[in-house]
Amino acid sequence: MEHQIELGYLVLEVPDPEALTPVFADVVGLVPGEPAPEGTTWRNDERAHRLVVTPGPADDAVAVGIEARDAAAFDAAVARLQAVGADVVEGTPDERAVRRVGRLARTAAPWGVDVEVVLDLAGAGSRFSSERVPGGFLTGGVGFGHAVFATTAFDESHAFLTEGLGFGQSDWLETELGPGIELEVRFYHCNRRHHTLALAKAPFDLPQRLHHIMFELNERDDVGAAFDRAWASGLPIPNGLGRHDNDGMFSFYLQTPVGFQIEVGHGAHVITDGWDKNRRYDSISAWGHQPLRSP
Ligand SMILES: [Fe+2]
Repeated sequence: MEHQIELGYLVLEVPDPEALTPVFADVVGLVPGEPAPEGTTWRNDERAHRLVVTPGPADDAVAVGIEARDAAAFDAAVARLQAVGADVVEGTPDERAVRRVGRLARTAAPWGVDVEVVLDLAGAGSRFSSERVPGGFLTGGVGFGHAVFATTAFDESHAFLTEGLGFGQSDWLETELGPGIELEVRFYHCNRRHHTLALAKAPFDLPQRLHHIMFELNERDDVGAAFDRAWASGLPIPNGLGRHDNDGMFSFYLQTPVGFQIEVGHGAHVITDGWDKNRRYDSISAWGHQPLRSP
């Protein structure tokens, strides 16, 4: 499937960026990215950074970097956002330098996080290798992973993603978690990755917009090893190993000390040309994903 955009990076703002270091480095197996003016950066491939963790009070994701494949894709994305009435601001030279990109255009997404359309995300100064994930991470042509946000502005966010950024809806989940507790999640693709972004309908504003960040590993055994490290870490494991019904991903979820979760997985379905599987699912998982360890 030919693509124009992919997930370039995520910017997190937390009071103490170092609090996430044991999770990112020791459990997930990310490696430090190129230095930032303050805070920490992390990468899971040859790019300069994929997570940028800055010090601040938000305690949440504050920006999503959407990388355009080339200048034409960048211009098209900006024009498309402007056509749906988004207020798009060009990044300053300083902002481009901090993000390590050639071009940057920023707008506020309806779910309360900035979207930065960028071009030419720099490469890292050294080749990528993670001792903890010997098989490496799946990122080529599909961005660094996926991110899921919860929002009360569900329909506006859907319109922003599909009309403003040109994402396609892969499928959706509608299920009852318990009596009177409905869960609705929509999944969106912009390349072969089953979903690059997903939106969960929030009944009210939650403390964090970011629900989880997903990293896909090339080898299934590396997910098992990551699970062992997560177990040994003592951190909460909201969902043990399982397989999602819709994207087929074999994964588990770990809760970070900041609150948002990390999904580590392998083997998700791939979006193909003429995708015709945009349908409702009524279960989250084909099997597994039981809550294992609470905070
Ligand atoms: Fe996920």
